[in-house]
Amino acid sequence: MSIQPQPDRVIIFDTTLRDGEQSPGATLLVEEKLAIAHQLSLLGVDVIEAGFAVASPGDFEAVKTIAQQVGVLGGPIICSLARAIRQDIQAAAEALQQAAHPRIHTFISTSDIHLKYQLKKSRSEVMAIAQEMVAYAKSFVEDVEFSPMDASRTDPEFLYQILEQVIAAGATTINIPDTVGYCTPKDMAALIQGVQENVPNIDQVILSVHTQNDLGLATANALTAIENGVRQVECTVNGIGERAGNAALEEIVMALQVRKPHFNPYFGRPVDWDAPLTKIKTQEIYKTSCLVSQFTGIVVQPNKAIVGANAFAHESGIHQDGILKHRQTYEIMEAADIGLAENSIILGKHSGRNALRTRLQELGFELSEADFNKAFMRFKEIADKKKEMSDWDLEAIVRDETQIQVD
Ligand code: KIV
Repeated sequence: MSIQPQPDRVIIFDTTLRDGEQSPGATLLVEEKLAIAHQLSLLGVDVIEAGFAVASPGDFEAVKTIAQQVGVLGGPIICSLARAIRQDIQAAAEALQQAAHPRIHTFISTSDIHLKYQLKKSRSEVMAIAQEMVAYAKSFVEDVEFSPMDASRTDPEFLYQILEQVIAAGATTINIPDTVGYCTPKDMAALIQGVQENVPNIDQVILSVHTQNDLGLATANALTAIENGVRQVECTVNGIGERAGNAALEEIVMALQVRKPHFNPYFGRPVDWDAPLTKIKTQEIYKTSCLVSQFTGIVVQPNKAIVGANAFAHESGIHQDGILKHRQTYEIMEAADIGLAENSIILGKHSGRNALRTRLQELGFELSEADFNKAFMRFKEIADKKKEMSDWDLEAIVRDETQIQVD
């Protein structure tokens, strides 16, 4: 499978098993990576970056196993990362041998600060290595992705030159990494526009972006890149990854779904066109998030957008009242959209009369107005001292404050 340049949807390149695994302490066993890869395939991602084959025997094995078992015909592209070094590219090619749709993703730093202190190489040396290694990767696979590492801090003229050369050498996807999460959305827009206007052969490839979250802007930057013509985004489930992590897959996908009329025109579609902008089966999002959290040991923060425990929970009385009257008063998507059974109303000190009455009715208690008033006053007294009121607390209130028999 090869993806045509400029598709009218966004290609989701999932790097949970590579950049995501670079989260401190997140090391995964081969079987765990395989289970996540199967789930990513069910979720509908286009590309799975399964690992960094040369990094360790375990990672080589993981890429190889995923290539064999998940990288089947009609399934996702399976990718391995490789530095622009022969040995890395050979390891990636070998691990990917049995994938129906293999991709080698090779990278080299291009910013002056990386060249001077890390690579200790000149721009012309880096240019020659990049060209040679892309051509070398191409001798193994048709699908070659190239990333100029630290692109967002690279001299734009050098960036344009190296991209033109690696495309001529055979790269099929050009990925622009904001490696240290330095860009603001305005910078990102300028970066992508600059690449499109100054790299003459850029139309021959898929343009991609890889946004890190150091300033909490990874998702915003990825969406801005999409508005500016990028057609592949690199992201991870739950936004895990090196340092502050990567753009979160679930945030990008749900933003594209919930705000489709906003994004459609960037793809040349009518505003009200219905076709989805990604191939993701959003009902698999929650399950995938739980699996990744369980295997990596990285707990999802409760207020995390889309998949956090509080993302569909309502605590304030005003919000609960609105939700009980019409969900869309305070919800822009439904819990069921991401595969969660239902939205929840959390009863606590901020809750109002409508929320309490509804819950009591759900528990089977029909209270007279006088009894309800007494119960509500007692509820507020107790809720002031507790984080959350359970059904057991409510039953106790009904037992103590009313004549109703509670079993
Ligand atoms: O952050 C980065 O620059 C990367 C590249 C290898 C894409 O992870």
